[in-house]
Amino acid sequence: MASRAKIAVFVSGGGSNLQSLIDASKTGKLAGEIVLVVSNKLKAYGLKRAANEGIDTFVFRYKDFSDKEMAVRELMAMLEEYKVEYIALAGYLNLLPEKAVKKYRGKITNIHPALLPKYGGKGMYGHFVHEAVLAAGDKESGPTVHLVDEIYDNGRILLQRKVPVESDDTPDTLAARVLKVEHQIYPEALDNLIKGKYS
Ligand code: GRF
Repeated sequence: MASRAKIAVFVSGGGSNLQSLIDASKTGKLAGEIVLVVSNKLKAYGLKRAANEGIDTFVFRYKDFSDKEMAVRELMAMLEEYKVEYIALAGYLNLLPEKAVKKYRGKITNIHPALLPKYGGKGMYGHFVHEAVLAAGDKESGPTVHLVDEIYDNGRILLQRKVPVESDDTPDTLAARVLKVEHQIYPEALDNLIKGKYS
């Protein structure tokens, strides 16, 4: 088999999107393999998922280093060591260090649980997003996969898919409907990117 793109996935929480990328990689729906999972939270369940799959993990917390520069150097060294070519943010709640954004520009993706450019930006994550969609009375929502630059939720949109907003939705029911579709479009968008379909 031709060598597959090496992907690092960054998580902060449950990692259900990480799981969808791992599963797609196993079935050949994603032309890449997850070689490293990075988390800024020691207790992120995503780390457990990685361990269950035999994927190496790295807990990246600024507080574990004497200064930020040293932390970033360590992260860059890890990415280098694992020969990472793509970075997929999957529920990662921190900004990626600028150095990483520069080095991997065009090869960093994120998934957001709303139809960007609506409901994006700093502070727009998790239930805040779905609450805002419901408060606005929108009739549809859905996830967006986009490229990552230095600004939250700002890069080029690669793929979006709409889901209906039901009149009796709560932030939780809407989140669940969107999340289901996230698991379909994240592997699809990343696969497209790796295969050069967005150039
Ligand atoms: C997803 O809703 C994603 O859109 C957002 O964070 C959530 C992560 O969920 N960026 P999970 O950790 O992948 O289950």
